[in-house]
Amino acid sequence: MILSIHKVDIPNSTLEKKKEAIYMLSIIVAIANDNVIGKDNKLIWHLPEDLKRFKRITSGHKIIMGRKTFESLGGVLPNRKHIILCNDMKMDINNENVEILNDISKLDKYINTEEECFVIGGATIYKLLMPYANKMYITKINHSFEGDVFFPEINEKNWEEISREQGLKNEENPFDYEYITYIRK
Ligand SMILES: NC(=O)c1ccc[n+]([C@@H]2O[C@H](COP(=O)([O-])OP(=O)(O)OC[C@H]3O[C@@H](n4cnc5c(N)ncnc54)[C@H](OP(=O)(O)O)[C@@H]3O)[C@@H](O)[C@H]2O)c1
Repeated sequence: MILSIHKVDIPNSTLEKKKEAIYMLSIIVAIANDNVIGKDNKLIWHLPEDLKRFKRITSGHKIIMGRKTFESLGGVLPNRKHIILCNDMKMDINNENVEILNDISKLDKYINTEEECFVIGGATIYKLLMPYANKMYITKINHSFEGDVFFPEINEKNWEEISREQGLKNEENPFDYEYITYIRK
């Protein structure tokens, strides 16, 4: 695949230093053909098996997301600390499991070498944080949908595939899809 990782310039950020250490920042995403990940601030497909897997993998961990993805969730997910990126300093969600940050350099406090922390979207936040991630859990849906948000290209020079598994296809999960895991080379 073609490389297109967008570097972000965060002067003096400790996040930059953390890139050197083996900290545990992972991306989790479902991607359809042509890198489509959503439309009209919604997921386009319904794959309950993948949602179950998302819950299993992220439960008990911190999840980082953009304000629009948080709004699309329709509420706070149980048993996960939500870190929401938002430029609006007035945004306030009264929940002990929600933290709102207006600057990605503040993420430094939440990312460490001991506990896996997940970037859960959307397109803007994947693009922003992909350079800092060292693992990606991709659900690749082999189906074309019309979308308006896209995952960045995965440069296979930078990422090594470590596992690939066919997803269960049935009446409730009507697409061909695979779970692919990458680690940074
Ligand atoms: N397929 C999947 O696995 C998956 C997963 C997640 C989401 N999605 C889809 O992705 C779409 C949403 O993606 P999106 O790109 O439109 O929105 P998004 O990434 O969820 O959120 C973008 C918002 O994040 C805030 N933000 C971005 N950069 C920031 C920064 N540097 N500092 C502080 N805040 C920052 C801004 O909020 P303010 O405007 O409030 O400042 C911005 O509008 C939806 O369609 C959703 O369904 C798909």
